[in-house]
Amino acid sequence: MSPGQTLLEAQAQRLGRTGIPSLIAEDPERVRDFALRVGPLYANFARQRYDRAALDALFEIAASLDLAGAMRRLLDGDIVNSTEERAALHTALRGNASTSEIARAAREQALAARERMRQMVQGLRAPHVTDIVSVGIGGSDLGPRLMVDALATPGAAALGNARPRVHFISNVDGNAAQRVLAGLDPGRTAAVVISKTFSTQETLLNGSIVRQWLGDDSRLYAVSANAQRVGEFGIPAERTLPMWDWVGGRYSLWSAVGFPIALAIGMDRFDEMLAGAAAMDAHAAAAPLRQNLPVWHALTAVWNRNALHASSQAVLPYDERLKLLPNYLQQLVMESLGKSARLDGSAVDAATVPVWWGGAGTDAQHSFFQALHQGTQMVPADFVGVVQADHAHARNHEALLANLLAQTEALANGEASDDPHHRYPGNRPSSLLLLDALTPHSLGMLVAMYEHSVYLQSVLWGINAFDQFGVELGKQVATRLLPALRGECEADDAVTRELLREFKQQR
Ligand code: F6P
Repeated sequence: MSPGQTLLEAQAQRLGRTGIPSLIAEDPERVRDFALRVGPLYANFARQRYDRAALDALFEIAASLDLAGAMRRLLDGDIVNSTEERAALHTALRGNASTSEIARAAREQALAARERMRQMVQGLRAPHVTDIVSVGIGGSDLGPRLMVDALATPGAAALGNARPRVHFISNVDGNAAQRVLAGLDPGRTAAVVISKTFSTQETLLNGSIVRQWLGDDSRLYAVSANAQRVGEFGIPAERTLPMWDWVGGRYSLWSAVGFPIALAIGMDRFDEMLAGAAAMDAHAAAAPLRQNLPVWHALTAVWNRNALHASSQAVLPYDERLKLLPNYLQQLVMESLGKSARLDGSAVDAATVPVWWGGAGTDAQHSFFQALHQGTQMVPADFVGVVQADHAHARNHEALLANLLAQTEALANGEASDDPHHRYPGNRPSSLLLLDALTPHSLGMLVAMYEHSVYLQSVLWGINAFDQFGVELGKQVATRLLPALRGECEADDAVTRELLREFKQQR
């Protein structure tokens, strides 16, 4: 067991079952001291199950593993993705967080691509183009989908706004393409095929469907790091925006992968989103560990996983516009941190990422919150709220905020009862992340905060946050199985053979 793990276990043992209400009663100042503000983003960790001594231990681990130096290495373009020998320079897409030669060169490439994207966005406006179909999957889909859902005004094109509506196709299930295309007019639709590698099965199949449906190739665009494959697919260089090896797919929404976002919200607001993320980069780089929001967030995650042994983590956005945040974070966090090997290949000695899941409040309250309150598993939660409403329904917004506050309070404090069915154990930890208002800037900051927290967690666990070899085996097996599914050969695996026989009878 590593010294860090031993230290955390000792702190958890000392605290035992001390409840969150006692932690707060014994140290009333913590409600302020365990809070941080970075621009429009406020975070409060007072309802976590650590006290100051446990936090000291966590920050000691952070200092001993040189989290500040690790952040610098990321921003400077060091090879933080050692298994693939790559930098992870998503921060160069949105600001000048480093003066290193490599970061500056990346930034120049990013700015040139952004300029080309700006011109393309200009060319694709309503009324000529009312709809955009974005084809991609994973990191080439989830970020744009989140941002468009959160920041674009629904039905903008229909309302005479110059911005087209953006639709997404990701799943290889033909129903996905069929459903999206059914309601659209190919004469007024443009499409963009987004794939870093341009070799992803789902995207190539869906891209082909969309290309055929469009009929006219002149409104088909691509975003990729593989210009050759894009050319082979039939999209010319003048309608292709670049990607680079130094941006990981799930960290790429700030690049031309964000083309659908820019189309939906306009280039100026896209730039504001980048500026928000850049502000978080500057904070992450410069703030001392104890005032550093991504550091607090990462240490809290590691505390809940390794000291309290939580096997899952909920993310609960209290804003309809952020309902896709849990889906987005699932890839960001679990594809980055779902690892069992350390950087040097040795086995990790502590549990790494828990299962991340969640849903939008208040809908989630009427579905899975029962288990959060009275289930046998303790599930730490990130509650994400937006203080200012952006609609005319003031009473709804009051109710929403009251529910947000009520849930964090009820989960932490619980309620005693003689009747076990009516007893709330409480002591269920949560963090509160509040945006003053939901804007491209504030959301850019929030997402960048999660990106940095994920990277710092990877440093705390000694793992690589930027590769994803775990998803390869399934892809290879699926490719091998295609001929067997078509009846051209037998499958090797006995269970699969039986299932194929069953398929054959029912198809
Ligand atoms: O799911 C695996 C993955 O490789 C992700 O990491 C990536 O975001 C996604 O596939 C899509 O890849 P591409 O952009 O190359 O199509």
